[in-house]
Amino acid sequence: MTSDAPPSRKGGHNQATQRPMSRRSASRNPPAAFDVEAARAAFPLIAKRPDLAYLDNAATTQKPSAVLDATRNHYETRNANVHRAAHGLSDAATAAFEAARQRVAQRINAASATEVVWTRGTTEGINLVAQSYADAVLREGDAVLVTEMEHHSNIVPWQIVCARRGAELRAARVTPEGCLDIEDFKAKLDGARIAAFCHVSNALGTVNAVRELTGLAKRAGATTVVDGAQAIPHYPVDVQELGCDFYAFSGHKAYGPTGIGALYGREALLEAMPPWQAGGEMIEEVRLEATTYAGLPFKFEAGTPNIAGAIGLAAAFDYLDGLDAEGLRRHEERLLAEATSGLLQIEGARVVGAARQKGPVLSFVIDGAHPQDIGTLLDQQGVAVRAGHHCAMPLMQRLGIGGTVRASFALYNSSADIERLVSAAHKAKTLL
Ligand SMILES: Cc1ncc(COP(=O)(O)O)c(C=O)c1O
Repeated sequence: MTSDAPPSRKGGHNQATQRPMSRRSASRNPPAAFDVEAARAAFPLIAKRPDLAYLDNAATTQKPSAVLDATRNHYETRNANVHRAAHGLSDAATAAFEAARQRVAQRINAASATEVVWTRGTTEGINLVAQSYADAVLREGDAVLVTEMEHHSNIVPWQIVCARRGAELRAARVTPEGCLDIEDFKAKLDGARIAAFCHVSNALGTVNAVRELTGLAKRAGATTVVDGAQAIPHYPVDVQELGCDFYAFSGHKAYGPTGIGALYGREALLEAMPPWQAGGEMIEEVRLEATTYAGLPFKFEAGTPNIAGAIGLAAAFDYLDGLDAEGLRRHEERLLAEATSGLLQIEGARVVGAARQKGPVLSFVIDGAHPQDIGTLLDQQGVAVRAGHHCAMPLMQRLGIGGTVRASFALYNSSADIERLVSAAHKAKTLL
């Protein structure tokens, strides 16, 4: 497994300075053709629960055996703390941990593994940028630009730092179709030091034109922070091609463990940023008078990291990269199309979010029925969805609705799951 490949330097912090492998060298086997039945068999929970149509993947995904095995194997064969001990077990743990960092760097095409900071997830990654980078650069009268379609974790950290620094928080408008109003985004970039926006909306599935947005922001002199939580599980992400300064994501939404994620940051920016959390691991030398900090990326990683989580995340990327990416994309598109047309057969049902480019997320409402009640009735019929505001209250306010029912699809979902969703929604409608 790529994540277990030994790094060329044993132990120590410097392992993270190695360049990631090229995409080609990482995939040792040609990708197998996409096969949904094989995918279902690879996920123990899915295989053991044929009674359940799990359609809450935007909240979190199930884990393949490869991820469960990798984390278990770590605890069974090389569990030790990393970077600090004088024994072989710690060297082995450090090697696997830093190989996992390289695996992540390679998956997102970071120029160097030093640009990959481990976090607990997207939320922590954005908070890191807000509390370290933004807190240092924002001055009174500056602005931070977000959009109306953001998850709360890409709004509230900016509200806090803007309030602290006397800066203004602006939001670019979303159209009634659930698309970003690019003209409004452009206009509001004027005077913005930072532009933070999602790659894919968790509530509607809208895919933003990230390259265009980073280009506009760059020309306006704004640093870009991309929330990649909903993109990483579905699309190949190339941070250099996207032209972003920061990119945050969570492992658990991409078939990896909970409690692990990564923040990509351009090296020059990370170098200049102050640390945000302090303690062990992030220091070079501590004296009671003053402390010097470790180099990248350790400066931002105080305390014992989630070692098994990092190894599990690398295994998730190995698993994903072993699939036929194009076949998978078409499979997820087909699930979305089937669900959309099935739902629209229900009288009074309306799909919320009509972007031309959408991730596999279907948000809908049914006239006269509360989303929460639909969610409960679907659950009673073995269909797991999410209902409510999806941590995107400003978006719901903008669209003039209290919430939606959200069915979100993953690689192990089948047409049978979609049929169950549609027939359960039909039944819910007749009951309400
Ligand atoms: C678009 C988006 N951003 C951020 C988050 C927060 O992710 P996490 O809770 O893993 O930090 C989510 C989670 O649903 C999300 O969908």
